[in-house]
Amino acid sequence: MSPLTVIFDCDPGVDDGVALLLAFAARDALKVLGITTVAGNVSAKLTARNAGVLREIALREDVPIYAGCERPLKRSPIEAGHFHGESGLGDLPLFEPRHAVEAEHAVDWLIQTLLAAPARSIALVATGPLTNVATALLREPSITNAIREIAIMGGARSEGGNITASAEYNIYADPHAAQVVFATDVEIVAFGLDVTHQVRATPERIDTIARLGNPSAVATANLLTFATYLPANSPAAQGAPLHDPCPIAWLIEPALFEFRRCHIEVETESTLTAGHTAVEFRADVAPHQNVRWGVRANAAGIFDLLHRKLAQSGKA
Ligand code: RIB
Ligand code: CA
Repeated sequence: MSPLTVIFDCDPGVDDGVALLLAFAARDALKVLGITTVAGNVSAKLTARNAGVLREIALREDVPIYAGCERPLKRSPIEAGHFHGESGLGDLPLFEPRHAVEAEHAVDWLIQTLLAAPARSIALVATGPLTNVATALLREPSITNAIREIAIMGGARSEGGNITASAEYNIYADPHAAQVVFATDVEIVAFGLDVTHQVRATPERIDTIARLGNPSAVATANLLTFATYLPANSPAAQGAPLHDPCPIAWLIEPALFEFRRCHIEVETESTLTAGHTAVEFRADVAPHQNVRWGVRANAAGIFDLLHRKLAQSGKA
């Protein structure tokens, strides 16, 4: 089967980093047209630099990187350095990438690329605040014609929030952008905390990946180990949740996940619940059921996939 054409929008970010290393390694399954980066976990400048670092580690400098929006549509910026460290990549040894990001802004490139692409030919993945995606949709709504689906990491229902009691970080960081994305007619596949909390990077799983020994696997193990020992993820034995690699794993092996169809609205105004995702499964209540909401993940299968793909990293 020919590789699936993908655009990957992210805010690396420790778990975005693992998702990037998986996507770069899975070149037999994914043709990554480009990486677009957005302000989120850390500044737009740092997320772009971090994407460059991971691209170089993965020996994938054939994939262009486009830096994007520096602040949310309306709310004030809120970073997540307490989860990702000051650099955004935990304690991963860093360097200035030898290849710069592209001069074109991420939103301009997204619009130009999607307008030129055949109908439903591109899978768009977003694992950070949805600012770039929403800005492109608002500026040029017809880009939806080229999008097969938008696979996002974001939202929470039964798990509750991780940045406030009721909101998950990516949605909370730009709720207005999330509302724009969920309101489109494009098919959305949403990996919220309800499903990503089922996928835990236990010390045993990290060690299995580390033993591969190639640069992408070693970097993956470093990033996952950093996340494991964050106070928010204690006890370490349970492992840190593997948020952002979930949509990438789904693109490669869809059977690893189960979904329920729904409609999602985002709270944008309340000071108490801004960023909350109201997940409505009742089609008679909310007929616009354009979202598949992740409800079950095969965690062992996801780590087996991660291991298999990282094992081929760096090979043609
Ligand atoms: O809530 C988890 C999400 O917020 C992940 O995408 C992580 O990178 C942070 O951005
Ligand atoms: Ca992220």
